[in-house]
Amino acid sequence: MPHERDTVYVIDPDEAIRDGLTTFLGTLDIPVRGYSTAENFLDAHTARSLGPGCLLVDANLPGMGSLALLWRLRAQRVELPILVLASTSKRYITEQALQAGAADVIEKPLVNGLLLKRLRHLLNRAPGLLAAVPCLFTLQNGTEVTIRGIEPDDAEIEQAFVRGLSARSRYLRFFSVIKELSPYMLEQFTHPRYPRNWALIATISDAGEDKEIGVARYAATEAGSCAEFAVVVADEWQGLGIATRLLRELIAVAESAGMKRLEGVVLRDNLAMLEFAKELGFTTERHPDDATIVRIIRDLATHEQVQVPAPFRTNTSGGQVREAMSSERCLRAA
Ligand SMILES: CC(C)(COP(=O)(O)OP(=O)(O)OC[C@H]1O[C@@H](n2cnc3c(N)ncnc32)[C@H](O)[C@@H]1OP(=O)(O)O)[C@@H](O)C(=O)NCCC(=O)NCCS
Repeated sequence: MPHERDTVYVIDPDEAIRDGLTTFLGTLDIPVRGYSTAENFLDAHTARSLGPGCLLVDANLPGMGSLALLWRLRAQRVELPILVLASTSKRYITEQALQAGAADVIEKPLVNGLLLKRLRHLLNRAPGLLAAVPCLFTLQNGTEVTIRGIEPDDAEIEQAFVRGLSARSRYLRFFSVIKELSPYMLEQFTHPRYPRNWALIATISDAGEDKEIGVARYAATEAGSCAEFAVVVADEWQGLGIATRLLRELIAVAESAGMKRLEGVVLRDNLAMLEFAKELGFTTERHPDDATIVRIIRDLATHEQVQVPAPFRTNTSGGQVREAMSSERCLRAA
């Protein structure tokens, strides 16, 4: 029998926050229910009508306020973990909230990665969170790189990344001579729907802004449990281990999504990719219809075997998809 899914109950007077969280967590297939006041929430639910999940409560609720809500929920023996969102880092706010039963307090503005990291500890049945929790690592040259799920707001840096690739890298990736992504491709690439598809980007900080330097993505084929993938790294950042990290993370996400196999399509003369795929345990097969390309295939661990990676790791080391994904033909260079 399928598990009942975790729901995130957001109690926040700011409609933009409620809508933002609904969109953001929606990309991870996590249901969100929003309420503008504590009273609205209490009118809608009793302790018994709440499903599994957690509550995100703004510290500055109008009306009865957040502390009274927390005490009320405690008295009603509501056992869902509560994360309080505070607009300041004042210690007394945190202390009062924790005393009233909050599991944690985080400061607004919400940083998606941070919020996900906390939510991941609070939710049990939202495997999509694994797909989005960022991971950090440091290249041997000292550059700090973040790997995280792509978001709708990344459209600009994704397009800049594709435009900045050399013609050869673009060709190896898209199998065509596109210069940039069409609006449709850009929309698709920045709105993946876990678990059927997902994209991880590698970013560095450039004058305080995120700059994309690599991306790996998968998309489920029609068969459902098999996914096609592609990866590409900015030319000036190749050879530093970034694709290795991206693909290892992507494999973990695809496994957590229940995919049983990853497949890619690579041009026969793309020796770097073929060598790389071999190192990551992919086998190669001739393509039945096209002698210029090779299929690369790797079986994934079953769900029970999946090891959840630590949310944040640091060490030194160092897409899209024929383009490299036949299941997403619509994504081919238009
Ligand atoms: C293939 C590609 C993704 C590799 O990215 P990368 O970040 O440079 O890869 P890494 O630094 O993690 O290297 C991984 C392995 O790939 C192989 N590799 C990378 N560059 C190579 C090169 N120029 N020649 C031969 N092998 C190479 C090596 O086996 C390397 O492992 P090693 O460092 O232990 O020797 C990158 O070259 C690229 O973006 N190419 C254009 C797009 C593309 O071809 N995509 C594939 C279609 S899906």
